[in-house]
Amino acid sequence: MILGILLSGRGSNFAAIAENVLTGKLPCEIGCVISNVSSAPGLERARYWGLNSYFLDPTAKDRVAYDAEVIKKLRAHNVDYVCLAGYMRLLGAEFVNAFPNQILNIHPSLLPAFPGLHAQRQALQHGVRFSGCTVHFVDTGLDSGPIILQAVVSVLPDDTEESLSARILKEEHRIYPEAIRLLCERRVQVEGRRVRILP
Ligand code: GRF
Repeated sequence: MILGILLSGRGSNFAAIAENVLTGKLPCEIGCVISNVSSAPGLERARYWGLNSYFLDPTAKDRVAYDAEVIKKLRAHNVDYVCLAGYMRLLGAEFVNAFPNQILNIHPSLLPAFPGLHAQRQALQHGVRFSGCTVHFVDTGLDSGPIILQAVVSVLPDDTEESLSARILKEEHRIYPEAIRLLCERRVQVEGRRVRILP
């Protein structure tokens, strides 16, 4: 199974996935890493690891044209699954339909609560006792596709956005590779909105 990674920034989720792949703990390969931000630290790390790494410049292109360029690159590397890892662009319908139920995302809340930006801040402001993270398939909505895995963390009385984000991030780094493992083992079955994990 071949993964394509899309990222825009720090790339710690990408690193968690790559460490599992490069040490043989995940039975798949990383075909390519693509960023829409030339200075993304995640892209730097991908280059350091010798992975096929690309900055694709989104300036002066509409979404359809840019997405088409990204799809072309993913196809050139025979990618089976696309992992969004802090990729700060919405995917157009053409992109989503080009990889049906083959695009994953990680989001730092227990969806469907707190979609969109600053999910950890939204959780704190709302006063929830628990938050967490979600690995889900990507559909054409905002953080709205079928849920594969979730992890729960407590929200503590003295939490700041930073401390809550750090607690959640630790779980992100655990469940994103875990979700990929389930896909590698062909144990993920999508039934409408529900995802069944086969034994
Ligand atoms: C993570 O919090 C992830 O849940 C969200 O964007 C952030 C990316 O962080 N989608 P990183 O680039 O993987 O470190």
